[in-house]
Amino acid sequence: MQVIILPTPNDVAQYAANSVMDVVTENANSILGLATGSTPIALYDELVSRCRAGLLSFKNTKTFNLDEYIGISDCHEQSYRAFMNRHLFNLVDINPANTHVPLADSLDPEVLARNAEAYESGIERSGGIDLQILGIGVNGHIGFNEPTSSFASRTRIKTLSKSTVEANKRFFAEGEFQPHLAITMGIGTILESRAILLMATGKGKAQAVKDMIEGPLTSMCPASVLQQHKKSIVILDEDAASLL
Ligand code: GLP
Repeated sequence: MQVIILPTPNDVAQYAANSVMDVVTENANSILGLATGSTPIALYDELVSRCRAGLLSFKNTKTFNLDEYIGISDCHEQSYRAFMNRHLFNLVDINPANTHVPLADSLDPEVLARNAEAYESGIERSGGIDLQILGIGVNGHIGFNEPTSSFASRTRIKTLSKSTVEANKRFFAEGEFQPHLAITMGIGTILESRAILLMATGKGKAQAVKDMIEGPLTSMCPASVLQQHKKSIVILDEDAASLL
């Protein structure tokens, strides 16, 4: 695991954008794994600017997102499909058919399990992920792999922890239904990516970052598994690195 500490969140976004650009430029048919949350928004803004400036093209790129909420439609503003359309896919030259977000618009567990399986096969058929972008939850989760998730887990339904529901409350209007379930790539799925880049910014992530980097390898901090990946890079701003 390589750890890079940069002064500001903007530096983190620039670094991540350079990494994405390297992968996409080296292989026009590259497969990107993408994340949602507030942290990667600055990265997506930067990729959009570079694409508009003609420095970058996603014409032949395929993407697979980490996760999606169960219980809201993919047209809902807070669905991760809508998030990705809004922050990246609708603003760059990517073919919408090449963008994948887990399908979670059913409440039938059998349908959801089939969707999760199909998602895994889709990643496999595409040849696997070249670069996976990750954020980190305040409890150390990656994707929606909450503490105690198996390191061997595959794409599946997960119940969100209380702290995750609490942390993501800010995106939902008061009184509005907020999902407590999601489909997420598993930790085993994420680890198969050829390279992983985790971004963390802000003091609120400092403890999770410390546990991920300096703590033991434990399912209580799912992100600690990145210590074992041969090409994982953690990019932090000074606040997120403040407890190291
Ligand atoms: C959600 C997503 C994660 C993301 C986390 C942190 O739970 N499933 O992929 O890393 O939020 O988000 P933020 O960057 O907003 O702190």
